[in-house]
Amino acid sequence: MRSNNRWVETGEMSGRDPLRQDLRADVCVVGAGVAGLTTAYLLAREGRTVVVLDHGRIAGGETHHTTAHLSNAMDDGFVRLERVHRRAGVRLAVESHGAAIARIESIVADEDIACDFDRVDGYLFEPPGGSASHLAGELAAARRAGSAVEMISRAPIEGFDTGPCLRFSAQGQLHPLKYMHGLAIAFERLGGRIFGGTHVTAVHGGNEAEVLTRDGPVVRARAAVVATNSPINNRFALHTRQVPYRTFVIGGIVPKGVVTKGLYWDTCDPYHYVRLEAAVDPTATTDVLLVGGEDARTGDVHDDEARYRRLESWARARWPMMGEVRYRWSGQVYEPVDGLAFIGKNPLDSDNVYVATGDSGQGMTHGTIAGVLLTDLICGRKNPWTWLYDPGRVRLGSVTEYARDQVGTAAHYADWLTPGEVTGAEGIAPGEGAILRKGLQKVAAYKDDDGVVHMCSATCTHLGCVVGWNRSEGIWECPCHGSRFDAFGRVLNGPAISDLAAMPAVAAGRAKKKKKVMEPA
Ligand SMILES: Cc1cc2nc3c(=O)[nH]c(=O)nc-3n(C[C@H](O)[C@H](O)[C@H](O)COP(=O)(O)OP(=O)(O)OC[C@H]3O[C@@H](n4cnc5c(N)ncnc54)[C@H](O)[C@@H]3O)c2cc1C
Ligand code: FES
Repeated sequence: MRSNNRWVETGEMSGRDPLRQDLRADVCVVGAGVAGLTTAYLLAREGRTVVVLDHGRIAGGETHHTTAHLSNAMDDGFVRLERVHRRAGVRLAVESHGAAIARIESIVADEDIACDFDRVDGYLFEPPGGSASHLAGELAAARRAGSAVEMISRAPIEGFDTGPCLRFSAQGQLHPLKYMHGLAIAFERLGGRIFGGTHVTAVHGGNEAEVLTRDGPVVRARAAVVATNSPINNRFALHTRQVPYRTFVIGGIVPKGVVTKGLYWDTCDPYHYVRLEAAVDPTATTDVLLVGGEDARTGDVHDDEARYRRLESWARARWPMMGEVRYRWSGQVYEPVDGLAFIGKNPLDSDNVYVATGDSGQGMTHGTIAGVLLTDLICGRKNPWTWLYDPGRVRLGSVTEYARDQVGTAAHYADWLTPGEVTGAEGIAPGEGAILRKGLQKVAAYKDDDGVVHMCSATCTHLGCVVGWNRSEGIWECPCHGSRFDAFGRVLNGPAISDLAAMPAVAAGRAKKKKKVMEPA
């Protein structure tokens, strides 16, 4: 079964017309995910003229993959963060994520966005046999950071005793596509302009920033914000300090009202994350339980089915009333080496080029923090979070993680020495892709449902790693820094900005004209 995303079924991922002529604006934002659109909206509220460019649809990137837990219970653990960012840093992190939830809540109220926003408590518990002292350590560090947290005897999961658990009060959740749709409409009401189907190829700073597009039109602006999840304007500096991971989600049907609404996480490595998506329709008899986890470094995942199965059995052990698993999808998150996002001026660039990346599992709030912080910076205001999220920072406490991640990335260059996954196109099933070896070259071959084989170079156009096939999503992805390409090799997200080099498609041994490429989702 391919991806079936709950949000796409119940929300709207709307498109916009492409940019057809040069434009001028105060600010040009690249990327219409939560980071880009929040920044654009808040700048428009300050009276700035803002243009947003995206090569796909609104929220069509990782934002539509999210489970939209809105939380200031820090994903990477309070003890670890305190070691790297010191007490003052973790306090600011908790404060900023809390402020992001409050900001989303106020935007929802101000703009009257029907997106099922709700305040809920969050519960963190150990796996069976876990250590109570670990939770106690997290509790103490969370309190030092100013979290509203307490230890309770168990999480509110009927019929499964989690043992002692931390309860974080007043967290949040929402329907991401309904929220993003409402945010886009509110931004346009303020005079903002969004262009879809517009692939950005370069962003140059200077007296006037220039944003170049594949089809020709250029946007000139006083400032440019690159919110493409993985920056397309930064070849090295940031990509060596964050690592792409794939994460998986299933959505199972549960009887209405039997699961306590809340956010749930365990402390497994990788951890599980759970929330209830309650039906809005008062006559509905079921809700959906969203269960995520099974994270692994992009490029190390070759067993999607097994990962979905493990998620399901983990969930059934805790919520045995879960019926059919109707939804499942996967997506990519970037794990920054020191656990916090990179938001601010792009390192080694002009002063008027900004980036937001390093979302980790808290990208919805990190994206909202980006909106608040970048708006302040662009408007010339001081913001107390600036140093914490500074993309140019180096925290000594993260040196070990940095070294380990670089070894992991370097290992993928050895993929050039291995044989192909199949010896010929006949070994590829319809709807699947695989890597073939042709002499010294590696080829990414995708066989469509009609049996036509579409081939392109398997060399990632960022820094030359070999891409791999992602079965769940039907795309190519690069294990080194997370670039993604559709089945035909067209780039979906950076750091790569160019498509995989095309080769002629073949059907039954004949060269065939290359099929029209899909528009990025
Ligand atoms: C399965 C999963 C579960 C998650 N759960 C949570 C959660 O519970 N809570 C949480 O806080 N976070 C969660 N996250 C993380 C969070 O969803 C993301 O970090 C966040 O949505 C990223 O937003 P963004 O705006 O940075 O990027 P995106 O949403 O990816 O937006 C970037 C945009 O840039 C566009 N773009 C890229 N390159 C170009 C180009 N060259 N030209 C033009 N446009 C371009 C893309 O089309 C895209 O629309 C989860 C992520 C996944 C995958
Ligand atoms: S994303 Fe960097 S080499 Fe592919």
